[in-house]
Amino acid sequence: MPTLECRKLLQTFGMEWPEASQEEISMRRTLIAGNWKMNGSKAEARSLVEDLMRRQREVGSERPDCDLLICPPFVFLELVGRLIEGSEIALGAQDCHPAEAGAHTGDISAGMLADIGCSYVIVGHSERRQDHGEGDALVQAKAAAALAAGLTPIVCVGETREERDAGHTLDVIERQVRDSLPANCGSRVVVAYEPVWAIGSGLSATPADVAEVHAAIRGVLRDLSGKEAADATRILYGGSVKPGNAAELLALEEVDGALVGGASLKAEDFWAIASASPRRTQA
Ligand code: PGA
Repeated sequence: MPTLECRKLLQTFGMEWPEASQEEISMRRTLIAGNWKMNGSKAEARSLVEDLMRRQREVGSERPDCDLLICPPFVFLELVGRLIEGSEIALGAQDCHPAEAGAHTGDISAGMLADIGCSYVIVGHSERRQDHGEGDALVQAKAAAALAAGLTPIVCVGETREERDAGHTLDVIERQVRDSLPANCGSRVVVAYEPVWAIGSGLSATPADVAEVHAAIRGVLRDLSGKEAADATRILYGGSVKPGNAAELLALEEVDGALVGGASLKAEDFWAIASASPRRTQA
């Protein structure tokens, strides 16, 4: 039986879906990922990264209790990779092609990204779904290619304003998660819930809405991969995450980090968001 139906059925009997225990939550280390999108120059990329590294050095062992990831445009990957070498900041890309190699002008394979030092790649971002007509099947193929290349795909899902207003949010999210995740991916993926209407709009989803959708995603993951893998999978929230709202969003039990767009372009803001991570993990 599909998990969401199960959840609704339980609710009709006045019962709640079992939440993850503290031990299960602590398996998931918070991930704060910066998605620079199509922004910046070489000089800006350098100064942003150097600023972040300086902040990291200054706080020493008091650094935020989270993993940090930067996803610059393809052309700055090598530069940023060199700058963060030896630090605990990870490198990721914003997209990849599903094929290993071949006649795909202008595209970049997951293997190339791994070769250049990436450990993550974002796939299925709503801007790619919209600008390039990418659907769940393609996103799934990209995520599978990422896994095959040894990368962790960050698979994005999210409803539009119209879908939310029509009351279809959970159905849309369930379909996207089911159809965009590769079979047998276990906990080797990260899922990012990014309501399309919240991206770049300054309007983030309310903590209650985020909590509801993240719990639903966790339920679908349990259905797909079993409880153990689902409880070890990180689910990020993205959509107008800022220093002012990061603490309340990251404090939610089912929120395991943030995918940050606009605010990741300012070292001060990105650092403030990372610093808002709750200390709930075993480092
Ligand atoms: P935003 O973007 O933080 O600028 O809303 C988030 C994203 O698209 O990943």
